[in-house]
Amino acid sequence: MYYPEELVEEIRTKNDIVEVISGYVRLTRKGNGYWGLCPFHNEKSPSFHVQGDRQLFHCFGCGAGGNVFTFLMNYENYTFPEAVKVLAERAGVNLPEMESSEETRRMANRRARLLEVNKEAAKFFFYQLRSPHGEIGYQYLRKRELSDETIRKFGLGYAGKSGADLVRYLRSKGFEDELIKEAGVANFTERSGLTSQFWNRVMFPIQDINHRVIGFGGRVMGDGEPKYLNSPETPIFDKRRNLYGLNFARTARAGNVILCEGYMDVIAMHQAGFSQAVASLGTAFTEEQAMILKRYTENVLLAYDSDGPGVKAALRGIGILRGAGLTARVINMLPYKDPDEFMKNLGRDAFQERIDQAENSFFFEVRILERDYDLNDPAGKTSFHREIARKLCNFSEAVERENYLTAIADKYHIVYEDLRKLVRSVAAQTGLARPIERPKSGVQSRNTSQENVKRSQRLLVTWLLDEPGLYRKIAKYISPGDFTEELYQKVARRMFPELERGTFSPAAVISMFEDEEEQREVSSLFNTKLPQINTAAEREKAFRDIVLAVKRNSYEYYSSKLGSDVSALKQVIDGKKALEELAKAHISLD
Ligand code: UTP
Ligand code: MN
Repeated sequence: MYYPEELVEEIRTKNDIVEVISGYVRLTRKGNGYWGLCPFHNEKSPSFHVQGDRQLFHCFGCGAGGNVFTFLMNYENYTFPEAVKVLAERAGVNLPEMESSEETRRMANRRARLLEVNKEAAKFFFYQLRSPHGEIGYQYLRKRELSDETIRKFGLGYAGKSGADLVRYLRSKGFEDELIKEAGVANFTERSGLTSQFWNRVMFPIQDINHRVIGFGGRVMGDGEPKYLNSPETPIFDKRRNLYGLNFARTARAGNVILCEGYMDVIAMHQAGFSQAVASLGTAFTEEQAMILKRYTENVLLAYDSDGPGVKAALRGIGILRGAGLTARVINMLPYKDPDEFMKNLGRDAFQERIDQAENSFFFEVRILERDYDLNDPAGKTSFHREIARKLCNFSEAVERENYLTAIADKYHIVYEDLRKLVRSVAAQTGLARPIERPKSGVQSRNTSQENVKRSQRLLVTWLLDEPGLYRKIAKYISPGDFTEELYQKVARRMFPELERGTFSPAAVISMFEDEEEQREVSSLFNTKLPQINTAAEREKAFRDIVLAVKRNSYEYYSSKLGSDVSALKQVIDGKKALEELAKAHISLD
């Protein structure tokens, strides 16, 4: 860990979670804790719960949860060490200079220096735009109908006639040539030494979510090739993991994110009040970017160009978004080419209408597919229908597939039964999916049983947290090794001895993990919904069933590892014994 655990714990306990979160979310006291509207998803009635006694937060709507560090990591997008630092400051705790390894420190230093170079470069371009010879750049942006406020907000700038000026400026600020080059704002050439590739262009600084400049896009003023020149990837500029405009969009909380193709589109959208717009960085949209968007929304609206390449990019994007579990809808930009032009011509109200009418991504895909077939030709029509059936097979959930099947049959005037038969035969032929009525495949049932296993392990942890006294009653049957989920096992290894001593703090356990996703998962261990049961006998049975399920799974798990893992044998022998005892045992909950 980056900081010593005791220090992290001191900082955590000195920052009351209710106080910290109150700075961001309106909380109302109710029952056992505080409730508010979740800042991590869009909702109208409060399902965001903050527990002062446990120092945890949890959203029953979107599943976000964790301790005070997690909250800041989610909300401010801090890394774990950053969150620790901010809260240390808030509580007046001094952080020691960390003795990290030489290498880590060198890298951190290097990154900080690269950020400084980019920041200075952005400043340089920004001032150039406002200088007399930057007038041409300024006029270009004004001609594109950007307001002074927008130009300032996005930090737009201008790179003058010579690529040497920027280098001269950066050197005067004390940056070495090697660093300037590594920052991606200049290159060595035989003829003129170190010069910037950015000249005679308007400059778009690219910022990370914390508003730090990590790279640039530079546009020619008028026609010319390449239209945009972008910084290369550097240690601080990862094009797969950043999105243009996300530094503003992440706090827009509009209930959706609008994904555009270009920098100018994002800027035009923000200027018109759609501050939830983002774009990828001169490269195709990536899975990493989809996962990042998923932190902020479930709904992504595609505002891609209406031309051929735009449609192609949209189809690709839909696949990626779907893979990430996000819902995608497509905004129709016609008759205009892109959001920027649309906004200029029809304005924000018309765009809002287009948002409201955005097309379901599946319908969009089918509509585009249709263009490839001659529907007047019976053979073409059949192929089209077969292709639809193939696509329908991709829905693994029967209800969803059924809904789309009905809708598509209706929309394309295909006899419902015919399409259904087609789906069934395609599914049988290709093995893409089960015909509708057949039971779920092995893969899926394996998934659900995996989910069930995790669930019983989570239930056990939550239950023990709610009633720590029960720990002693099951200690002879259950050990941390029975938690076959790696993450859960780590938690149990820490939790069990502490339950024994009566010192267990769930919020402290969360700080053992530095990764946001892991913190969320760990927090879910403490917030699993326990069965609602009234009678004592039923409660006892439910608890015993959970213990048994955890033990049985553990027994099966280690049995399957016999032969490949020597330590499994002891687990299996112990497990068998415990299961036999459990079968006879009565676990009283009093
Ligand atoms: P577009 O060609 O659609 O540009 O490229 P645009 O954003 O609409 O720009 P304007 O309105 O003509 O000024 C979309 C995005 O693709 C990347 C840029 O990120 C651009 O914003 N791109 C495009 C490049 O990186 N290089 C290029 O030469 C062209
Ligand atoms: Mn454009």
